[in-house]
Amino acid sequence: MTPGAHFDGESVVVTGHQAARTVLRDWQTFTVDDPRFTTSRLTGPSMLSTDGREHARHRAPFVGAFSPRRVDDRYAEQVQQLCAELVAAIRPRGRADLRQELAAPLAAAVMQRALGLGEVDRSMLLQWYDALSAEVELLTADGAPTDTGRCAYAAVAERVAARLPGSVLAAAGDSLDPAEVSANAVVMMLGGIDTTEGMISFALTHLLASDWAPRAAADPAVLERAVEESLRLEPAARFVDRYATADTGIGALAVPEGTLVRVDLRAANRDPAVFTDPDHFRPDRPELRRHLSFVVGPHVCIGAHLARLETVAAVRAALTGLPELALADGAAAVEGHVFVKPAHVHARWTP
Ligand code: HEM
Repeated sequence: MTPGAHFDGESVVVTGHQAARTVLRDWQTFTVDDPRFTTSRLTGPSMLSTDGREHARHRAPFVGAFSPRRVDDRYAEQVQQLCAELVAAIRPRGRADLRQELAAPLAAAVMQRALGLGEVDRSMLLQWYDALSAEVELLTADGAPTDTGRCAYAAVAERVAARLPGSVLAAAGDSLDPAEVSANAVVMMLGGIDTTEGMISFALTHLLASDWAPRAAADPAVLERAVEESLRLEPAARFVDRYATADTGIGALAVPEGTLVRVDLRAANRDPAVFTDPDHFRPDRPELRRHLSFVVGPHVCIGAHLARLETVAAVRAALTGLPELALADGAAAVEGHVFVKPAHVHARWTP
């Protein structure tokens, strides 16, 4: 076994930090562009399923809209407002599942606005979202495409096209055709709702299960570090897949052409060669920002700044708006395999 990568019988699993960085940066040898990639069987080509020039063409029109400055200008206030409303609604009750009542509605509302779908009924949008996620799962398990999946895709694609001028997708209409804009919009929706819900839920759990919450409530710099450390320990998107384009190797491990290479981001983020005391929540660690939860290389998460902004705002709103906030029954088990979340964030406070 080579440190950092091994065969698990069907695919190569990359667990080392250095090996993961090498694979994620070298798109010519380890590509996403393969017929086995299931999201593209639902959406057609998008930035998530292309590499090289084609990837740049799909991605470039959206990069500006997700830049830190544009995200701060466009979302900071709205997100704070939404968090304040969600917290105010649950405060009198003295207890709630913060995943269901804070993280989930915030993540969905922000993506809805980002994609210009503000006027679509929220429960309808969530139904489409569930149908699309289920379809990707089904296709991943080699199932046949369903009418439900196809209809949900058509419904979202149609709404996105109709609302183009008011959304972050507006500029994309100049360089991508309507089907390509819709494919990228659905990829953002699939990549930006569950993951952000998970990221917020993990951050709340890690803070409330440790003694860092009071310091994070009092100091924005500590809060940001705590969110980053939570992201390192539990990346909400745990595995990313690549396919070897030629016979190659990872360290001493031979990797034949066509091999599925799964990068285990959670394992790479806990590589003891990079992170001291890797399994513990330590927001003061110096190597904090070396985690790979948003990957590195050409496919680095386009929504990373927005997801961080949402998480910091949600956690701050909970810590400052819910007096004596504590977990009601300890940290929950983690559910999911590729997309992971704590099963719940049951919390109590003094109303
Ligand atoms: C506002 C929320 C988010 C949006 C809109 C978003 C959108 C995207 C998009 C469009 C990509 C594809 C980029 C490309 O292939 O060029 C991507 C990649 C990625 N995102 Fe996000 N994302 C969000 C939040 C998150 C969160 C919270 C996580 C995990 C904690 C995450 C993890 C990833 C990872 C691991 C990739 C790389 C996929 C790969 O290389 O195969 N994202 N994201």
